[in-house]
Amino acid sequence: MKILAFAASNSSTSINQRLARHVARRIPGVEVETLDLNDYEMPIFSEQRERRSGQPAEARDFYRKLGEADALVISFAEHNGTYTAAWKNLLDWTSRIDRRFFQQKPALYLGTSPGGGGAQSVLSQATASAPHFGAEVVASVSVPRFQDSYDGARDFVADPAIDRELAQAAALLAERMGLREIRRLAS
Ligand SMILES: Cc1cc2nc3c(=O)[nH]c(=O)nc-3n(C[C@H](O)[C@H](O)[C@H](O)COP(=O)(O)O)c2cc1C
Repeated sequence: MKILAFAASNSSTSINQRLARHVARRIPGVEVETLDLNDYEMPIFSEQRERRSGQPAEARDFYRKLGEADALVISFAEHNGTYTAAWKNLLDWTSRIDRRFFQQKPALYLGTSPGGGGAQSVLSQATASAPHFGAEVVASVSVPRFQDSYDGARDFVADPAIDRELAQAAALLAERMGLREIRRLAS
């Protein structure tokens, strides 16, 4: 069983990447593969480019990676209330291969920011549009004030309410993947 975990961000110090990896690793007995959006950088999508050159190899690789996973953990960074440009470009290119590019994978959607908003705006948009793109979101969790909520040195969620929410979300994903020991995960 393999979980593909990544941030919808191209920041080399992405807090969403750390969150996605942390939550995916809470599910025991699965392989966790992480993705870096910088490996999928492409020219900005345009219909003319697409007609001229077809689908870039990066979009095809990304689509294949999604298809090979059993489940997804995606954490959305928020830029000006919405997706980062890096994620939107990758989404646009990949949606032209297959509009339902998430290929009906079960997914955990997360979002975090340094401030109190917790990337809630982009997380709501991503969750609402997930069925359109073929993702089956089992839970979505916003983590406000990442630097206060998460202790990176100990890989530990310091806020007990958020920790519980993340545990329950991980348990739901594990259950959807047919994994056992779900009660222990959620407690
Ligand atoms: C151009 C830009 C716009 C931003 N807009 C928002 C925003 O609308 N809401 C928010 O909570 N944070 C916003 N931020 C702060 C990001 O949440 C912060 O940079 C965060 O670290 C991004 O996640 P990442 O580290 O995973 O890339 C913005 C940052 C940048 C650079």
